[in-house]
Amino acid sequence: MFRNPWFETVTEAQRRAKKRLPYVVYGALIAGSERGRTIDDNTSAFAELGFAPRVVGHHRVRDLGTTVLGMPSAMPVVISPTGVQAVHPDGEVAVARAAANRGVIMGLSSFASKPVEDVVAANPNTAFQLYWSGSRDTMVQRMERARQAGCKALILTLDWSFSHGRDWGSPTIPDKIDLKTMVKLAPDVLPRPGWLWRFAKTGRLPDLTTPNLQPPGGQAPTFFGAYGEWMQTTPPTWEDVSWLAKEWGGPFLLKGVSRVDDARRAVDAGVSAISVSNHGGNNLDTTPATIRILPSIADAVGDQIEVLLDGGVRRGGDVAKALALGAHAVLIGRAYLWGLAANGQAGVENVLDVLRSGLDSAVLGLGHSEVAGLSPDDLSIPDGFTRTLGAAEPRHSPADR
Ligand SMILES: Cc1cc2nc3c(=O)[nH]c(=O)nc-3n(C[C@H](O)[C@H](O)[C@H](O)COP(=O)(O)O)c2cc1C
Repeated sequence: MFRNPWFETVTEAQRRAKKRLPYVVYGALIAGSERGRTIDDNTSAFAELGFAPRVVGHHRVRDLGTTVLGMPSAMPVVISPTGVQAVHPDGEVAVARAAANRGVIMGLSSFASKPVEDVVAANPNTAFQLYWSGSRDTMVQRMERARQAGCKALILTLDWSFSHGRDWGSPTIPDKIDLKTMVKLAPDVLPRPGWLWRFAKTGRLPDLTTPNLQPPGGQAPTFFGAYGEWMQTTPPTWEDVSWLAKEWGGPFLLKGVSRVDDARRAVDAGVSAISVSNHGGNNLDTTPATIRILPSIADAVGDQIEVLLDGGVRRGGDVAKALALGAHAVLIGRAYLWGLAANGQAGVENVLDVLRSGLDSAVLGLGHSEVAGLSPDDLSIPDGFTRTLGAAEPRHSPADR
């Protein structure tokens, strides 16, 4: 279908993913919620920012390397955890291999389709992600398994509040895939023979279970089983966050911060990093794009912890813009999923190469020798671009009690 498997932009990878994947899978990757305002703003806000390039004094050699969560990274881009199944039979192991080949850190979702042990074997620089789900004992058991496997950092994601409806409609995802479901899905799947063939070659159907949530001696829950446990768990307090960070005792990223007061509380709770994130526009729709709220949060806590950003990063230039506005690094979600769907491990490597070369061009054109040199002075920022949420004096909330 695509003679040359290489693609030159993430947009092209997405176009190929759309052609390759059955709608039930592609639609789950697009996700977003309600009107889709936040998911759109996450990407379009990057395009509102302009560059202010220099013409003389460019550096022949540029250093894009950094460290994130205590791990070295060849560039300030991290694989964001995504609990997606059924994109590709090699799933998160292919992503981890690609990330390792490009010197990039792997974030593994607890809802992932591959065991953490296999993923760490493919990329020793892996951070394991948990939701606040189940009892404290259950969370400790999952965290200890990740530690035993060799994960070097823990990510706690707190920015999802089960907002499901989409004006454009959600795909119907089955609880498990067996022959009966395949027959039902046939009208969607059969026009995508490439996707089916990839799985057929492995002799397995897509497996919608979550092996990293398997209790000792028990069965791995299905995706929806795991989801049910999470929905029924009492949401955490700041004291709970602090407890988990202490239990882990190493690099700890709180993912999902939108407000300055939450960022400050996260510092008090003892986290070592936050990600300014709205779950890729999947949480409360109309939350502003992460790039708009990054500067106020970076100003408030950027000198105390690592401030990362995720949401809408599709180009190396987006990475440069986020760094210029105070991010230490960015995480990417859909960009690598499009690459995985388009061309497996090589497609993820292709996406990382696209981002690397775009970032390198920006660093070159802006006249820097390293990513740390990027600053707001490198950008044209339209009036009214930024938003500041929760910057009033902290007040007591039910979560403090
Ligand atoms: C299909 C899908 C599944 C996701 N699953 C998870 C998950 O299991 N854990 C998590 O912390 N974030 C999850 N996320 C959020 C991503 O980690 C990340 O915050 C988001 O994708 C960033 O936006 P981007 O896709 O525009 O790069 C998911 C996102 C998508 C699109």
